[in-house]
Amino acid sequence: MTDLEVYLDAETIAGRVKELAAEISRDYEGKDTVLIGILKGAALFLADLSRALTIPVGIDILHASSYGDGTTSSGVVCITRDSSCDVKDRHLILVDCIIDSGRTLETLVKHFRERQPASIEAVVLLDKKERRTCDVAVRYVGFTVPDRFLVGYGLDQGGKHRNLPYVATVKPS
Ligand code: IMP
Ligand code: MG
Repeated sequence: MTDLEVYLDAETIAGRVKELAAEISRDYEGKDTVLIGILKGAALFLADLSRALTIPVGIDILHASSYGDGTTSSGVVCITRDSSCDVKDRHLILVDCIIDSGRTLETLVKHFRERQPASIEAVVLLDKKERRTCDVAVRYVGFTVPDRFLVGYGLDQGGKHRNLPYVATVKPS
């Protein structure tokens, strides 16, 4: 059986999500803003972050994957289901649970830039900073995390553990 060790508990995550939401609410006051969640990983974060905002925003999603079923990136970012939201002249915030190499966000920023939004920024709950190979700017970061494989709060290992309310490290059994 896989052994999980809590890395960030639900309360710690909720506190930081509130802080990020307060910052975004201040920065985007009065702007026509859309959150675009990168599924599946961002599903839980998107739900919690959007509910903690004090400004009105649009919400849309797209499905992308870069990791296969294992714990190392395939290196290829695949948009498996695109967003159909009209984003022209609107302020976009891409929402993801974690940034690792940065390839996913870099690909999606380029993808949406072609649709001429007024601006594009990104918010991630977790930043595996030392793993970055792409030069992509992330405006809002919840926690900087070490290079360990994490599961929970949207993150999976081979499709498992996404529904955990906390973030955990996986100990090899
Ligand atoms: P990037 O394109 O290398 O930045 O990878 C981002 C994607 O890789 C995330 O959206 C996750 O789906 C996945 N990922 C990166 N690190 C982890 C991890 O520790 N656990 C689970 N998924 C991860
Ligand atoms: Mg995954």
